[in-house]
Amino acid sequence: MLNIVLFGPPGAGKGTHSKKLVETYDLIHFSTGDILRAEITAKTQLGILAKTAIDKGELVSDDIVIGMMRNKIKQNINAKGLVFDGFPRTIPQAESLDKLLIENDISISTMLMLDVKKQELINRLQKRAEHSGRTDDADINIINNRIEVYEKQTLPIADFYKKQNKFLLINGIGSIETIFGRIQDAVNPFLN
Ligand code: AP5
Ligand code: MG
Repeated sequence: MLNIVLFGPPGAGKGTHSKKLVETYDLIHFSTGDILRAEITAKTQLGILAKTAIDKGELVSDDIVIGMMRNKIKQNINAKGLVFDGFPRTIPQAESLDKLLIENDISISTMLMLDVKKQELINRLQKRAEHSGRTDDADINIINNRIEVYEKQTLPIADFYKKQNKFLLINGIGSIETIFGRIQDAVNPFLN
C-alpha cells in the first residue's frame, strides 16, 4: 500500500495535491478538515462540537479526530493506498495513527511536508476567502491563529516522522503542476 501523510501549514496546498495524488495513484483521500466541515453542514453532534474550535482556528480535540479516523481506516484497508490530509496534527494523533495502522498490518510510506512561507500562505487563504465560504478563511486574525496553532502544536510532528526516516521536504512554491512534479518524484520510489 502507498500510504502518504501530506503535511504542511494552512494554505500549503494539502487539499490541492491530495486530489491529484488520488487521481494519479488511485488512492483514498482522508481530509479531517473536509470530514469535520461535512459534519458541521449536517449539524451532527460531532459537527456542533467541532464548529467552535474551527471557527476560532483552534484544533478539534484529539479524541474526536482519532475516533473519527479509526473507522475510516478500517473500512479502507483493501485500498491501493491512503492519503492523510490535515491528519495527524498533534503528537498524540501521530502516535494513534501508527497504532491504528499497525493493528491493520499497514504503515505510513512517507510524510511529505509542503514548504511555503507565511506571507504566501496568507495571500492564498485571503484569495480563497473570496469564494470558499470557509469561516476560518474570512478573518485575518483567524488565519494568523491557524498558522500559529500549526507552528506550536503541529510542526513538532515533523520530528516524529524524521525519527522514523519518513520525512521528505517538498518546495511548495511555484505552479501547481511544478509542485506536483516534485511530489511525484518523491512518491514514485515507494511504488511496488
Ligand atoms: P483543514 O481543512 O485541514 O485546513 P488547513 O490545514 O488550515 O489547510 P487548508 O485546507 O486551508 O489548506 P491546504 O493546505 O489544504 O491548501 P489548499 O490546497 O486548500 O483544517 C481546518 C480546521 O479543521 C482546523 O483549523 C481545525 O480546527 C480542524 N481540524 C482539521 N483536522 C484536524 C485534526 N487532525 N485535529 C484537530 N483539528 C483538526 O490550498 C489553499 C489555497 O491556495 C487554495 O485556494 C488553492 O487553490 C491555492 N493554491 C494551492 N496551491 C497553490 C499554488 N501552488 N499557487 C497558488 N495558489 C495555490
Ligand atoms: Mg485543505
